[in-house]
Amino acid sequence: MTTTETEVKEETSPEEEAFDYSKVEEIIESLPQKSRRHLIPVLQRVQGAYRYLPEEAMDILIEELKISRAEIYGVISFYPGLMITEPGKYILKVCVGTACFVKGCEIICNKVDEQYHIKVGETDEKKLFTLQTASCMGNCGAAPILVVGDDFYGNLDPEETLSTLGSYEDKE
Ligand code: FES
Repeated sequence: MTTTETEVKEETSPEEEAFDYSKVEEIIESLPQKSRRHLIPVLQRVQGAYRYLPEEAMDILIEELKISRAEIYGVISFYPGLMITEPGKYILKVCVGTACFVKGCEIICNKVDEQYHIKVGETDEKKLFTLQTASCMGNCGAAPILVVGDDFYGNLDPEETLSTLGSYEDKE
């Protein structure tokens, strides 16, 4: 995107004016080639930079990578880890592989829903937690597994899910 195009975008909408385009522009500039072949790693990097995939950043990718809106959102909807809405402060990942299923991963999800009123893919009202599931994390001996942000909980007693999560409320 040229400077002039950026200026026009910023002048036309106060909401877009507040958006920080520099991160997505930097990512695009670092690409060896502006091509849709790089779409998935680019989306992952954009999500890494913004914590999700803001519409403003997707507009830039659509323009720069010459890709259609339908195609880009089709890819996003195919990959469960890619998010188009801002997640909570902590992403909860509940492993739903066979070993974790047998050891009560459903109870973990139900407890989260009970307390925070969120189902898989949702974020609670206070934007503290976003609930996600993951397939086998390769550590079945520690089933059931819950990951909270960067913290790993193995052999979790599903009944203690809420006391584990409660400690994150205090960290707010
Ligand atoms: S099933 Fe959960 S780690 Fe393998």
